[in-house]
Amino acid sequence: MGAERINAVKTSFFGRGAISLLPDELKKRGFRRALIVTDKFLAEQGVVSRVGGVLASAGTEYALFDRVAPNPTVGIVNACIEAAKASGAQVLVAVGGGSAIDTCKAAGIVLSNGGRVEDYEGVEKSVHPGMPVIAVNTTAGTGSEVTCFYIVTDDVRHSKMCMVDANCIVDIAVNDTDFMISMPEGLTASTGMDALTHAIEAAMTWRATPLTDKDAYWAIGVIREYLPRAVRDGTDEEAREMMAYAQYVAGMAFSNAGLGMVHAMAHALGGFYNLPHGVCNAILLPYVLEYNGQFLQAQGRFKKIGKAFGIREEPGMSMVHEVVRAVRALAGEVGIPGRLRELKIVKESDFPALAKLAVADACMDTNIGKARAGDVIQVYRAAM
Ligand SMILES: [Fe+2]
Repeated sequence: MGAERINAVKTSFFGRGAISLLPDELKKRGFRRALIVTDKFLAEQGVVSRVGGVLASAGTEYALFDRVAPNPTVGIVNACIEAAKASGAQVLVAVGGGSAIDTCKAAGIVLSNGGRVEDYEGVEKSVHPGMPVIAVNTTAGTGSEVTCFYIVTDDVRHSKMCMVDANCIVDIAVNDTDFMISMPEGLTASTGMDALTHAIEAAMTWRATPLTDKDAYWAIGVIREYLPRAVRDGTDEEAREMMAYAQYVAGMAFSNAGLGMVHAMAHALGGFYNLPHGVCNAILLPYVLEYNGQFLQAQGRFKKIGKAFGIREEPGMSMVHEVVRAVRALAGEVGIPGRLRELKIVKESDFPALAKLAVADACMDTNIGKARAGDVIQVYRAAM
């Protein structure tokens, strides 16, 4: 094992009521003007006015940008950049899940470095740290508040650009379960399955280390136990809190170990058809695990993932098969579709184009086994 670089968020506030810790931090850092970046739904739900009240109590004035949408596009990021400039903000405050946080990360990088959003596609393309970002997370899945990844959809190519850049890491992450409790069942399930995919992919990459492993395997076990509870009863505080920790820790794992073929293929699907990220991952995960199960170097990982799922190994047992079965059972339990055809928009004739996008995605580089476009098409077909 060689030298290892670890990236982490600077300050994190956790647990119910954690937002109350923010005013002192704002004063300490001297943020006088902010731009709240969110979507129309959260702006109308009173979530934004609550965060606005916290900013005001620290003497921080704020303007509002409420045009974030799922799978944020270059156009949305550009509009956010203009709003930040017009408001004179010193800090961007994301209120939402991965879409709001990624919009802020992308805008922050362009505001500090100049150029266009598209210039930063790939790995470590910026020079300067992005404009400061505070992430008030309202979902439990993407881990974007802790990772050095962000995703922006190119509206012209209808594909997702994956950016991996330590300069985008947010300054303050707030995981206050008060903001997660009202998440609807479907969103709880899809974001939770995204977190599971992060943990499993981080455990499977060839860049995994003991430091990322401890996070990845812990998160798998916690998500297995608490996601069904959070989906069944959104007011289950313990389940919400454990999911908040697990998705954060899974984010820490993949931010440093990388992801793999599930995310590469899900980015292609999500960008092409504007589908929810967590659902794409959850459908593809068992099929990619079957593909990765053919590689000798993956066998030890499957044993450890199986253990995290609570599977007791017996002689003659195929751990690849057992892990795939456990993943399918969990997805079914939380109501995620099992096949791409159930999404009613995916077409087999698009698979060659999707495979081309997936092979070029930065996440493919860290998959445990090589995958060519033909292999990717086969996995899409199997998942159809
Ligand atoms: Fe993800």
